[in-house]
Amino acid sequence: MASYEKYQQLDRADPLADFRTRFTVPDGKIYLDGNSLGVLPKAAPDMLDRTLRQEWGADLIASWSKNGWFELPATVGDRIAPLIGAGPGEVLACDSTSVNLFKLAAAALRFQNKKGKTVLLTERNNFPTDSYILMGMGDWFSGCETVSASRSELAARITDQTALLSLTHCDYKTGEMHDMAALTRTAQARGAMVLWDLSHSAGALPVDLNGCDADLAVGCGYKYLNGGPGAPAYLFVAKRWQKALQSPLPGWMGHADPLDFGPDYRPAPGIMRFSCGTPGILGLRALEAGVLTFDGVDLKRVREKSMALGDLFLTLVKDRIGFDRLKPACPLNAEMRGSQVSFQHQDAGHIIKRLIAEGVVGDFRPPDVIRFGLTPLYVRYQDIFRAVQVLAKIIDKG
Ligand SMILES: Cc1ncc(COP(=O)(O)O)c(C=O)c1O
Repeated sequence: MASYEKYQQLDRADPLADFRTRFTVPDGKIYLDGNSLGVLPKAAPDMLDRTLRQEWGADLIASWSKNGWFELPATVGDRIAPLIGAGPGEVLACDSTSVNLFKLAAAALRFQNKKGKTVLLTERNNFPTDSYILMGMGDWFSGCETVSASRSELAARITDQTALLSLTHCDYKTGEMHDMAALTRTAQARGAMVLWDLSHSAGALPVDLNGCDADLAVGCGYKYLNGGPGAPAYLFVAKRWQKALQSPLPGWMGHADPLDFGPDYRPAPGIMRFSCGTPGILGLRALEAGVLTFDGVDLKRVREKSMALGDLFLTLVKDRIGFDRLKPACPLNAEMRGSQVSFQHQDAGHIIKRLIAEGVVGDFRPPDVIRFGLTPLYVRYQDIFRAVQVLAKIIDKG
């Protein structure tokens, strides 16, 4: 049997195959960049059209109550919750990941400062926005010190002074995952809180925040959740922390009664206290359509397929190109890898340009990494086979 047919047969046997019909995947494109921007859910245009014509166009201001606009950040948050192992009322869809990270890190620091804990610990290779925001915390909290450690040193750098450990669960360049349960336990044993950035995890693999007893989390809506360009992000605050923590941005939408227009701030009792200003309804509706693509999806199956796609990509690169010519930058062990594969090559930037010109979309992360996001709901085995064929042709040509 020809190789291509072999992979088409794998696709026919794939229990997730039908979910691809929920997305608009452009013809002739092999899209391996869902870890940057997820593809358009087929339900999104109708969802937005209804919001525009009926809710905005006809119902106008009444929509804040009639069409649930006030609660929409929490409604969409509740839809995201099962994807990340959170409960109802623990997730809010709002702002950007950067802003949410600031809000939650500042809330945790303020709380922990009262116990004399002043150190914020993160990983040196964290995603830049996380690093910049965490490194800048000292400017707002006197006495706060941010320590950046290498991945292997992290556990050892947690001390009784550690107020907060803030990490990205799945590394944006290498795809390597942290052991969420173990690191959370180690940090909490020293009285530290833990804040996870789930941008490269949510929707791509099962995350069990409450199973890990996690404290706080944030993540992007526009990657594996398919919420569209610049989609609202989300934040998670475990129920047990919601009363004790306060947002550093106490905007009116986080007030217990925003429509009271009172002179003094009174935080909302639950997750809504982490809201700040008026939510962007159009963005939230698009995100809602994105999250609805997971209706009826078994995340265990998503993980199995994601690992199989990654293993296939790596095996084909090894056999067809050779790891000496294209060096893996991701873990070879699927258990340690998120839903992406990445490689190092001195001409990484050129390779990606050529790949995109040939219809295979991945991305480049300086200085020398090429990265392919594997989105199990719409990426097929035959796509991986074709992508590696094109990649091999480009590398063969030099
Ligand atoms: C791990 C991680 N955190 C945060 C962000 C960006 O967050 P924002 O939505 O604030 O741009 C990204 C973007 O790619 C990311 O990969």
